[in-house]
Amino acid sequence: MADPSPPDGWKIVTVKAAALNHHDLWSLRGVGLGEDALPMILGCDAAGVDEDGNEVVVHAVITGDSWRGDETLDPRRSLLSERYPGALAEKVAVPARNLIPKPPELSFEHASCLPTAWLTAYRMLFTRGGVTPGMTVLVQGAGGGVATALTVLGRAAGVRIWVTSRSEAKRAEAVSLGADQAFESGARLPERVDAVMETVGKATWGHSIRSLKPGGTLVVSGATSGDASPAELTRVFFLQLKVIGSTMGTRDELERLIRFCLERDIRPAVHQTLALADAREGFAALLGGDVVGKVVFTP
Ligand SMILES: NC(=O)c1ccc[n+]([C@@H]2O[C@H](COP(=O)([O-])OP(=O)(O)OC[C@H]3O[C@@H](n4cnc5c(N)ncnc54)[C@H](OP(=O)(O)O)[C@@H]3O)[C@@H](O)[C@H]2O)c1
Repeated sequence: MADPSPPDGWKIVTVKAAALNHHDLWSLRGVGLGEDALPMILGCDAAGVDEDGNEVVVHAVITGDSWRGDETLDPRRSLLSERYPGALAEKVAVPARNLIPKPPELSFEHASCLPTAWLTAYRMLFTRGGVTPGMTVLVQGAGGGVATALTVLGRAAGVRIWVTSRSEAKRAEAVSLGADQAFESGARLPERVDAVMETVGKATWGHSIRSLKPGGTLVVSGATSGDASPAELTRVFFLQLKVIGSTMGTRDELERLIRFCLERDIRPAVHQTLALADAREGFAALLGGDVVGKVVFTP
């Protein structure tokens, strides 16, 4: 494809690392990416070097020019690769306001994991979920990109993290990442939890609702296995549960996340780094579900 020729106020970033997300698999299935938008370069997450030689992390939420405030609430927002070409490329164009300085302590590879999965996890826990130190939080589907971020961030913030996974190997990896305990999917927990972080949907929803204390909070940002049914409404009202949606995060939250990673010396779990030319292998691994953490491509 030709090099990008962006409008005024946009910058071209030479991509040094780009992380893969489940979002890219959804796009390949046509979810959120209409035929009229094709051809489209996939990829939401990039870290690289801007035209002035600055090392940058790209905030992937692109708002309308006139939007002010929380970027995730702009009805016209899109993610890179939905309306504008994405990050699985040698070069990506983004509005200048979407560039955040990359601290030298953070590698390009690690930085590229932050703008989607890690930012989503940060907002789920701290902004939307109101999770505070000492709480017990259940993370469903331990192996995922968002789930591993929830585990590492929660642990670093003094939260007791319990996880579930279908795979014994992933349960063991989650414990090595900082989970306090790991359970088989659907297993009865030793006690009810303060909050549940959901990205799996149908396969775990009932267990999530049943695992909450009265007054507890369920934060949902994804439905990998499909929409939940039944919604468990009786439990929701009788136990006065809070069900809260969460999507991506703001530029400010991404800056705070980067600072938190440096402050606590935590880094994203990277499952595999591949050349961009071998992207197919990374997509296949994510689709196969045998991944713990992030798959990263380097052009
Ligand atoms: N709203 C947002 O802004 C936002 C942002 C990021 C992601 N998301 C969404 O959140 C979801 C997770 O994203 P991700 O990038 O973390 O995906 P991922 O890396 O592919 O992780 C998906 C995880 O789901 C778990 N899972 C459990 N039961 C499953 C089942 N029956 N079928 C399929 N998966 C099952 C798996 O965990 P185990 O194998 O360990 O059980 C798997 O590791 C996706 O649907 C994505 O679109 C939304």
